[in-house]
Amino acid sequence: MNHIILITGGAGFIGSHLTRLFVNKYPQYKIVNLDKLTYAGNLENLKDIENQPNYTFVKGDITNGDFVNDLFEGYKFTAVLHCAAESHVDRSISDPLAFVRTNVLGTVTLLQIAKEYWKDNLNGKLFYHISTDEVYGSLGNNGFFTEETPYDPRSPYSSSKASSDHFVRAFYHTYNLPVIISNCSNNYGPYHFPEKLIPLCINNILNKKPLPIYGKGENVRDWLFVGDHVQAIDVIFHKGRTGETYNIGGHNEWKNIDIIKELCKQMDEKLGRENGESERLIIFVKDRAGHDMRYAIDATKLKNELGWKPSLQFEEGLSKTIDWYLNNTEWLNHVTSGDYQNYYETQYHKR
Ligand code: NAD
Ligand code: DAU
Repeated sequence: MNHIILITGGAGFIGSHLTRLFVNKYPQYKIVNLDKLTYAGNLENLKDIENQPNYTFVKGDITNGDFVNDLFEGYKFTAVLHCAAESHVDRSISDPLAFVRTNVLGTVTLLQIAKEYWKDNLNGKLFYHISTDEVYGSLGNNGFFTEETPYDPRSPYSSSKASSDHFVRAFYHTYNLPVIISNCSNNYGPYHFPEKLIPLCINNILNKKPLPIYGKGENVRDWLFVGDHVQAIDVIFHKGRTGETYNIGGHNEWKNIDIIKELCKQMDEKLGRENGESERLIIFVKDRAGHDMRYAIDATKLKNELGWKPSLQFEEGLSKTIDWYLNNTEWLNHVTSGDYQNYYETQYHKR
């Protein structure tokens, strides 16, 4: 099948890796990347594929129904890979409504339009919703999130994602819209915006600035290399069963303090600094409100049904990630100075 795919949020962290994978791996597909270019959207993430014949970028907002309608009319999409979201928990604590707008209203807008366009022929269509393990809430010392774990979101971010997941399932049950949802654990890797823990600390180590650890650093996250996440999405997109949910994770749990110590160790070696120099930058700061204690994914269903497993060991993935940031200081400087936001103007308005 030669898909015409709408990827939303393709200029963000995961979206850009997903867009690159699909554009390069499936030259027979047409890929349209719809992104609002919020502070998290950066077209410099996609410079290497921007002139590919099967790729088009469109600047726009998923909450704008008329605009999305026109796109469906123009391109006749056969599938949607929905990545666009407000994604940072700390921002959701200071501005929850922004998360309701994009994550809930934006998702329902897309669902509603896909339903209308596909209603006469659902064959070969798919609405793939990219979601998070945070919808399941917070774990104690034991246990894992499975696809059957009841939803128990605790932050405005995870509540908005949980709500969007519920709407996706509602469209499946009520209107037979072919949908798939995947819920993934914490990603890390190149092009990660330096407001999230790992890239923030890489940037601060480079600049010898303090490394702020919330609370005591005891909270646990289950880290997966972003390349492995998008490989899993590829497999699920092509082989997954409609109406199903797939958890994605790498069985790779780390306490925040341990991950930052590992990062400091690797960066001291790579930067030729004295062992322990970067660790001295660690400071403990006020905890995140409602800070979830532990996330851990059980990805057995994905492994058994579709044969996916992660390709990278964490230490190797972290080393690759650090190398990428050290080799892409221009990207990092543009992001931290805000210059990346001029890229759209210079790149797309000169044509
Ligand atoms: P991100 O913040 O890096 O990127 C989000 C992208 O969406 C940006 O390009 C932004 O410009 C765009 N966007 C935001 N609002 C929009 C709107 N109204 N209309 C159109 N575009 C809009 O996010 P990310 O970390 O790449 O996450 C992508 C998806 O994956 C999200 O749905 C997130 O919930 C989910 N997820 C993320 C992680 C993670 O660790 N980062 C893990 C699991 C799931
Ligand atoms: O689990 C998947 C989720 O992972 C995604 O759905 C989210 O979009 C993504 O942002 C991420 O959420 P987290 O809140 O887990 O990621 P973050 O990088 O913000 O924080 C990771 C851990 O580090 C968390 O326990 C909070 C802590 N932290 C974070 C920051 C930014 C700190 O200790 N200091 C910091 O400065």
